[in-house]
Amino acid sequence: MSYSIAIDGPAGAGKSTIARAVARELSFIYVDTGAMYRAMAYYFLKQGLTENDTEEIKAACQNAEVSIAYENGEQKVILNGEDVTPYIRSEAVGNMASKSSPIPEVRAKLTQLQKNLAARENVVMDGRDIGTCVLPNAQVKVYLTASTHTRALRRYKELLEKGQTDADMQKIEADIEERDYRDMHREISPLCQAEDAVLVDSSEMTIEEVVGAILALVKKVK
Ligand code: DC
Repeated sequence: MSYSIAIDGPAGAGKSTIARAVARELSFIYVDTGAMYRAMAYYFLKQGLTENDTEEIKAACQNAEVSIAYENGEQKVILNGEDVTPYIRSEAVGNMASKSSPIPEVRAKLTQLQKNLAARENVVMDGRDIGTCVLPNAQVKVYLTASTHTRALRRYKELLEKGQTDADMQKIEADIEERDYRDMHREISPLCQAEDAVLVDSSEMTIEEVVGAILALVKKVK
C-alpha cells in the first residue's frame, strides 16, 4: 500500500518548500496540487474567460487535460501536452485559480487525478483539501499555517529578491487576507484543518524545524 502525507494550509504558509523537503528526505514524490489549479486557471485566462464566466469555465474543463511529470525530481505541469510550469506563478493566474477552484467541474477533474497519483506512489501532497477530501486516509496530516503578517512578509521579501522594487507590503497583506477568506468560505472543499491533522504554526519556526517536526510525525506513524 502506498504512503501519503497530506499538507494543507493557507497561501504563503510555506507548504511547497516544506513538502518538497519532506519528500526529498523520504524519497517520496512531491505533488503540488495548487499548480494543477493554476494550470486550469491559465487555460481559462488564455481562452479569454473571466471569473464571472462560470458556465464557459465548466464547458472549458472538458478541453483541458492536466497531468504532471517529473524532471530531475521537480514537478512539471502539463496542459494539453504543453509544459506550462513557467507561466502559472503570476498573481493573475493565482487569483484566477482561487476564483475558479470552487467550481465543481474543476475540482472533480483534479481531485480524481490526485487520488490516482496517491494510489500508485508514496506522496507528499500539498493543497487546501488534501487531508479533508482528496486523501482522507493519509497516514500523516499536517495543517501548516503562519500569521497573515508573517506570510505577507515572506512574499514581500521574495518579490524584492526577484528584483521587484515596487512591491507593496500592505497590498500583499490585503491580497492574502482576501484569498484566505475565499479559500476558507467556498461551498465545496473549503480550506479547513482536518480533525485528525496536526497543527503546525511556522510563524516562529525555521524551515528545518518544520521539516523535522513533520519527519518526527512520520516516524511515529510508520
Ligand atoms: O497553493 P496555490 O497558491 O498554488 O493555490 C492556488 C489556488 O488553487 C488556491 O488559492 C486555491 C486553489 N487550490 C484548491 O482549491 N485546492 C487545492 N488542493 C490547491 C489549491
